[in-house]
Amino acid sequence: MDDLKSKYLQLIADAGDENGLEELRVQALGKKGEISLQMRELGKMTPEERQTAGPALNALKDEINSALVAKKSALADAALDERLRGEWLDVTLPSRGRPMGSIHPISQVTEEVTAIFADMGFSVAEGPQIESDWYNFDALNIPGHHPARAEMDTFYTHRAEGDERPPHVLRTHTSPVQIRSLEANGAPIRIICPGRVYRADYDQTHTPMFHQVEGLAIDKDISMANLKWVLEEFVKAFFEVDDVELRFRASHFPFTEPSAEVDIRCSWEGGTLKVGEGEDWLEILGSGMVHPKVLQAAGVDPSVYQGFAFGVGIDRIAMLKYGIPDLRAFFDSDLRWLRHYGFRSLDVPTLHGGLSS
Ligand code: DAH
Repeated sequence: MDDLKSKYLQLIADAGDENGLEELRVQALGKKGEISLQMRELGKMTPEERQTAGPALNALKDEINSALVAKKSALADAALDERLRGEWLDVTLPSRGRPMGSIHPISQVTEEVTAIFADMGFSVAEGPQIESDWYNFDALNIPGHHPARAEMDTFYTHRAEGDERPPHVLRTHTSPVQIRSLEANGAPIRIICPGRVYRADYDQTHTPMFHQVEGLAIDKDISMANLKWVLEEFVKAFFEVDDVELRFRASHFPFTEPSAEVDIRCSWEGGTLKVGEGEDWLEILGSGMVHPKVLQAAGVDPSVYQGFAFGVGIDRIAMLKYGIPDLRAFFDSDLRWLRHYGFRSLDVPTLHGGLSS
């Protein structure tokens, strides 16, 4: 028994890996193992012999078992140490230049527009995308029979059977935020409202969901001249050009009087857009002096306050600035497109640091 003990303890101590250990376990303690065979011999012994041999064999079995367990965990520790030595990592190294995500052009342009108007003292306001028809239409001087309601291809929500109230709509423009902001804060006010809007339309330049930014400035002495200056400053800053000619074209919106659509001078020479030069004109936004009825609907006295409003398509100016040909691709989530047109996530647009650099 002593021979067996020293033999196995030595073999276990010398074992180089877990497989070797397992072989030793089978060899000693398996069904036909050396120690198991000895156990079987107990049956042939006299009761006296068995009284000493039995406990001794059991003790031997226990001892070998513990040696196996101890060696197994020592081998595992050694393997881990070995791996840790091989796989060290210097956490002070800078990360590899492998950008995983990018900023979508819509987010980028929204940030750019916000930076430009923040510099002119406008703050950002928001409103709900599911809107009552009062805020989306009536309060903006678009009554029930008005053709503008049909023109806008509005998405309506369902009312429960028997509910006679007019249905809610997915807002067709950001203009309702004018009303909500005036109601909440009164005049004077200077805000922009970027956000999602919805219309049932789908082709190369229309998607059922798109983005606008609304502008609103109301005070006691705001005129069309202020509107013109603000828009000029905006266009120059946004397209990153020193000079640009704007053309105010008389137009009609129910919520402004007078109303103007604004074009910028541009050229399409060689298929690429250049802003500020050339013989072409490009329409970029709608604007005007806020209609007295709109102020009234928002609880502001039009005999004291007046001001301007404008609405710009964010997707549209993003396409123009960054030469993106198809609007639908904005919403395809195509990784190759996002990598191509996306922006680095840490390059936050600021006027002093550069908008799009
Ligand atoms: N709400 C208009 C639209 O979606 C855009 C617009 C035009 C907004 C003139 C205005 C404005 O604030 O003054 O087509």
